[in-house]
Amino acid sequence: PEAITVQELASRMAERGADVIKALMKMGVMATINQTIDADTAELIIGEFGHTVRRVSAADVEVGLEGDSDADETLLSRPPVVTIMGHVDHGKTSLLDALRQTDVAAHEAGGITQHIGAYQVTLPTGKKITFIDTPGHAAFTEMRARGANVTDIVVLVVAADDGIMPQTIEAIHHAKAAKVPIIVAINKMDKPGADSQRVRRELLNHELVTEDLGGDILAVEVSAKAKTNLDKLEETLLLQAEILDLKANPERQAAGAVVEAKVERGRGTVATLLVQKGTLKVGDIFVAGAEWGRVRALLDDRGRNIESAGPATPVEVLGLQGTPLAGDVFVVVDSEARAREITEFRLHRQREKLAAAAGRSTLEQMFSKI
Ligand code: GTP
Ligand code: MG
Repeated sequence: PEAITVQELASRMAERGADVIKALMKMGVMATINQTIDADTAELIIGEFGHTVRRVSAADVEVGLEGDSDADETLLSRPPVVTIMGHVDHGKTSLLDALRQTDVAAHEAGGITQHIGAYQVTLPTGKKITFIDTPGHAAFTEMRARGANVTDIVVLVVAADDGIMPQTIEAIHHAKAAKVPIIVAINKMDKPGADSQRVRRELLNHELVTEDLGGDILAVEVSAKAKTNLDKLEETLLLQAEILDLKANPERQAAGAVVEAKVERGRGTVATLLVQKGTLKVGDIFVAGAEWGRVRALLDDRGRNIESAGPATPVEVLGLQGTPLAGDVFVVVDSEARAREITEFRLHRQREKLAAAAGRSTLEQMFSKI
């Protein structure tokens, strides 16, 4: 629940603290200037002073993603967003690279393949799959903690010559916590010691029962090195996506997640965003975490300038005022004023949290804000 100190409420209304305390007393609430009151009480007080309430709460701001659902008839099918996870050296990066090479669009003239945190593969059928390249499992959890549930499907990479290892188990836990279906890619099948049956048996110990053993977990034997069965893996991903019936409304203001963001010399903040709903356009004003910006340029995963990006599309965005964090939610807003209002509110909340964590009193916190 949102809360506010009496002092903060008074200053936001441009009223004297003592008057607010008096008004609270009339309502039977005894509070000192540094005390926190809940949002409902604050709302009553605001009304009492003849001001209007405009709550800029987290819920209000995060509506772009979870809160507001689009009407069924506005929803169109969208590509799945896939994250690859697994134990060290089991071939996550190699597999991503190999999958990327299956992209039919990659061979177009002028298509410079560059590394951004996410990219999309177009299959010969025209169907698309979006891959997110998270640097590690911790990042995955961190992103979720920050509100971004970007992944529809996890591909669990297990080296056929090594089997289930500690980080494989960790990845299983992360995927389960996120309630995301797992597809197992049994990799390195080209290696002499490869034993995919052993991998399938070991998965049983972690409640992952593959189809051949009577369960519903899809597993595919692949080799990132020999590039075998990659099409089968992609087909399996699309099959899973079909079951999930992934849809989004492309005709609305965009919302999504920050995959990564960094400052680059001469370009300012460069953020890789995953559009999850709506369409992001050049010129849009958006908020990402505690930062905001106006889209100055949009680049696709090959570094080409584009005008707009729809659901499940990863894009590089220029024009942020500051650098948001991976996993921050981004939402397009109507005006710069609204963007400033939201980011100020969030910064304010961050400072409060920091102050609380540092064990400082509310009073000190108040003065430090001035
Ligand atoms: P980290 O990012 O360090 O966790 O590793 P990773 O899971 O991304 O593995 P990476 O793709 O870096 O591969 C690790 C090693 O395994 C490299 O030497 C790859 O060449 C090798 N490798 C990956 N896939 C295959 C495969 O299908 N067959 C064989 N023989 N080697 C593979
Ligand atoms: Mg790697």
